[in-house]
Amino acid sequence: MKILVTGGAGFIGGNFVHYMVNKYPEDEIVNLDLLTYAGNLETLKPVEDKKNYRFIKGDIADRDFIMELFQKEKFDVVINFAAESHVDRSISDPGIFVQTNVLGTVVLLDACRAFQVKRFHQVSTDEVYGDLPLDRPDLFFTEETPLHTSSPYSSSKASADLFVMAYHRTYGLPVTISRCSNNYGPYQFPEKLIPLMISRALAEEQLPVYGKGDNVRDWLHVLDHCIAIDLIVRKGREGEVYNIGGHNERTNLEVVKTILKALGKSEDLIHYVTDRPGHDRRYAIDPTKMEQELGWKPIYTFDTGIPETIDWYLNHKEWWQNILSGEYKNYFEKMYGERL
Ligand code: NAD
Ligand code: DAU
Repeated sequence: MKILVTGGAGFIGGNFVHYMVNKYPEDEIVNLDLLTYAGNLETLKPVEDKKNYRFIKGDIADRDFIMELFQKEKFDVVINFAAESHVDRSISDPGIFVQTNVLGTVVLLDACRAFQVKRFHQVSTDEVYGDLPLDRPDLFFTEETPLHTSSPYSSSKASADLFVMAYHRTYGLPVTISRCSNNYGPYQFPEKLIPLMISRALAEEQLPVYGKGDNVRDWLHVLDHCIAIDLIVRKGREGEVYNIGGHNERTNLEVVKTILKALGKSEDLIHYVTDRPGHDRRYAIDPTKMEQELGWKPIYTFDTGIPETIDWYLNHKEWWQNILSGEYKNYFEKMYGERL
């Protein structure tokens, strides 16, 4: 199979490329990424010389480029990770979220239609369901929960999901959608809660906790997300949505304190700051459909995954320090400059 992975230089897409290239040597994995601020080719170093892997720089929202690429490559499967993914950035600059997350997805859908792609998989998010109240621990997001978004980011992702389902119903395009909870693990950009807190705690810098720190997120190790997507693409039913999560709810304060304890740092570093506007209170996934229909079960709990993740950031300081210094931006030039 020839598989196009978009956004494979980002956090989850990068982990997914590692997983697929190693698991399926007979498949061809093509990674298309625009290399925005969040795209980092250093993440792909462990696979960049593998025979079944190729990188292409490009924009999913560039219609002419995408149509030409699909005509030339004849992909069997397209898995769309490419997105603007940070909620805080969507609050200060929503426009690019519409451009990439909505228009980019529609361009990919059109290309899949035009060139008879056998499966289009959209990597969506639990944020499309909005949030749950803190005092109702009995409530969870199921695939039937109505879309009810809060931020420009989640609105752009929900909008993309609606287009994906419309292309299935109207044109019969073979699609699937996954909606996962918060991911953590190796290669996450240090603007997101866990790597941000690890890097700042190590530097003895203040740790900015929004509001009271009582918002709840449902944490899943990125490898468990990758395994779930692979299963959906191979065995999931066309036109279906699958929720992915492992019942690992923690308040933000609990997460930050866990990190501080593991690093032997003082809780005095915690600094409460003004809350995120429209801040979602609680996310919690009901993964019954994934478990019963596809036999998926996460490998990690938060308690087993978080120490391993903290160790990864301790052992790969160069990876995230290059991001903080901006050095990672030079990697593309070094690697590909002479070849273009
Ligand atoms: P990320 O920001 O780390 O990576 C996004 C990647 O997309 C980057 O490599 C970037 O260069 C690329 N990209 C951006 N615009 C592009 C464009 N126009 N054309 C081609 N490539 C482009 O994001 P992530 O955290 O890895 O998230 C990946 C996907 O998973 C997103 O769709 C996100 O909505 C979804 N998701 C994320 C989480 C999470 O916890 N991080 C949870 C559930 C779902
Ligand atoms: O639920 C899935 C979503 O999880 C994905 O769709 C998004 O792409 C991903 O970014 C993530 O969104 P969140 O907003 O939940 O993640 P973030 O790491 O930005 O924040 C996690 C929680 O921590 C949230 O309640 C806000 C809080 N926070 C975050 C930062 C960056 C802080 O308190 N301080 C911070 O500095």
